Formats: sequence, structure tokens, C-alpha cells
Amino acid sequence: MLRATPAAVLGLASGRTPVDGYAEMQRLHAAGQMDWSRASTFNLDEFAGIDGGHPGSFRTFMEDHLFAGVNLRPERIHFLDGAAADLDAECDRYEEAIAAAGGIDLQILGIGSNGHIGFNEPGDDPSRVPHEALSMGTGTILHARRIVLVATGGKKAECIRQSVSGRITTRVPASMLQVHPDVELLLDEEAAALIGRT
Ligand code: GLP
Repeated sequence: MLRATPAAVLGLASGRTPVDGYAEMQRLHAAGQMDWSRASTFNLDEFAGIDGGHPGSFRTFMEDHLFAGVNLRPERIHFLDGAAADLDAECDRYEEAIAAAGGIDLQILGIGSNGHIGFNEPGDDPSRVPHEALSMGTGTILHARRIVLVATGGKKAECIRQSVSGRITTRVPASMLQVHPDVELLLDEEAAALIGRT
């Protein structure tokens, strides 16, 4: 993406799944094959109640796994601020920043084993969700021009089946990706094993 579109606006996800991909991006950068100097990034989500410097924040996670090893300009790295006094206003600010950047060209997504994307949890699953977090909404995710969802391992097989082969429902937030015209799934064999089963 960055080779074809050096000024791309990338939506990034945290979680274990994209870590190997981020390591590869750092490697390509170190080898002089990936220039991030004109790119912008917007991360999907962040915990509420902690600031970006907190060791448990997604911001710190991204610093460790990607940002420290590429030449992104700090002012082009965008994150929801979990320590903002007014969380609604913070979400509005983020939406406006995405729009001002021209929208997201490529959104990278992981998936939770219950089908969640970002922190968009199933409508009927309140007990298992984090207490409070900020997230791009499903609508914002669907506005990305292109989406790549990455999933690995057998624990993701059932939610991938439901997302790909099931009906579109808020009970499986990733199923809503079916309405998007340009979604690519990067799956290992275990995660793909149940696709097509009913
Ligand atoms: C968290 C994040 C999601 C992520 C999911 C899966 O809940 N908010 O954005 O996709 O975990 O994480 P993992 O990749 O570690 O399985």
C-alpha cells in the first residue's frame, strides 16, 4: 500500500494478531523498502481512563510493536485519548480528524472470538466487554475504502464462519463487513476451517 500510495491513511489495530505483520513492516522499513514519512495512521481503539503513556495502553503497544521501528511523523500518528475529560467530544474530535485526513484508505482489523471488531461488541454480550473503552464505530470502519481483516488459529474459526457465512447481525459485529465492497480476509488454515459450514 505505501509503495503505491506513500501518503496513505492507514487504520491500525492492536491485539496479538497483527504483531507479526507489524514486525515485517519494521523489517521492510529497516531494509529501506518501506517509507512511512508521508503516511498517516489512525488506531481503532483505546482503553478509557488511562493516557497514551500508560504501559497498558494500546498506544504503548503500538509504539513498541510498530511506531518505534518506522519513520512515521509523530503528528501523523492519531489515537483516541482515553484520558480525555469528555469522551463523547473526544470521539467527535477523532471522527473529524479522520475526515480531515481524507478518510481511511486501508483499515487493518483483528477480530475477537465473539466476533467483535475494535471494541464494537455483540449487542447481547455486556458481561464480557471491557469496562470502558473508546473505539471507532462500525460505521466509521465501514467507511474505510479498503479493509483487511486478519485472523489466526482455531479459536477464531467459529467467529470467522459466522462473519463470512452467517447472516448480518449486530450479534456478530464482523458480519457487518459483508456490506463492504472491498474486504480481504487474511486467515490461516485453522481460522478458515469452518467457512461454508452451516
Ligand atoms: C481486542 C481489540 C480488538 C482486537 C481483538 C483481538 O479486543 N480491541 O481490536 O481485534 O482484541 O485480539 P487478538 O488479535 O489478540 O486476538
